[in-house]
Amino acid sequence: MKNKSLKKIYNKIYAKGERKHYSSILFSGDRVPLAKREVLKEINWRGKNVLDAGCGTGEIAFLIAKDGAKKVLGIDYSKEAILEAKKLHSRPNLSYECADLRKIKGKFDIIVSLGTLEHLDDPFSALKNLRAKLNPGGHLIITCPNWTNPRGYILMALLYLYRAKITLADLHYLTPTDFEGWAKELKMKLSWRTTEQEWGHGAKMILDFKKRLPKVVKSNKKKIEEFIVWLEKSAIPLEKNTKSSGAVGLYHFRK
Ligand SMILES: C[S@@+](CC[C@H](N)C(=O)[O-])C[C@H]1O[C@@H](n2cnc3c(N)ncnc32)[C@H](O)[C@@H]1O
Repeated sequence: MKNKSLKKIYNKIYAKGERKHYSSILFSGDRVPLAKREVLKEINWRGKNVLDAGCGTGEIAFLIAKDGAKKVLGIDYSKEAILEAKKLHSRPNLSYECADLRKIKGKFDIIVSLGTLEHLDDPFSALKNLRAKLNPGGHLIITCPNWTNPRGYILMALLYLYRAKITLADLHYLTPTDFEGWAKELKMKLSWRTTEQEWGHGAKMILDFKKRLPKVVKSNKKKIEEFIVWLEKSAIPLEKNTKSSGAVGLYHFRK
């Protein structure tokens, strides 16, 4: 699958309502998902000119604009996402554009891109392109699913050993090792950590498997149920603050 063909899937998800699609694993009530709250804390946004590349319905773009950024531009190639963003998250210092993030114009102090890099055909060239849009001293803040945890190892085994379709739209399964290599090539300083620990190895992981596995391993309903029962009885979460064990990676590049 290619990034171009994912646009249709995204338009459908946003037309139906994103929260209905992603259900309770990511969203608990009206709360902002944990990874987004972590991104908000990552840097001082005051007075900055910010781009949100792959903004979806504009949740983080709105919060950054509210946190004192001078200007925030959210772009997304899904027209349904931009329609929703304009409806749900508007502010005077926030604007939106329906565009491909690989073709953006302008320069920014901070670029954020959450849960998007893994959907692109060539994540490294997209990163390189985003770096070129940074002002001197600029920051690039990326999040994407992380697989170096029990949840990730199980899903990676299904992907590699059985070619199972473990996600709907991910074209790449990125880890801190990829980002460290890219930071070297881009000659940028990188700091990283992971968040969503419970999703990586705790109760949220089991909830995720309950929903995901019947779609991934279609013919084995009973075996899946037995596996879930075993996990519920036996799984012991890792230490909370292991750097690499969260289900979402947060990567902060400095130019
Ligand atoms: C998983 S969603 C994340 C949305 C948002 N950043 C968030 O965290 O809520 C990925 C987003 O990337 C957008 N996207 C994927 N490829 C893109 C591209 N080439 N140009 C612009 N947006 C893209 C999709 O339309 C989708 O809204």
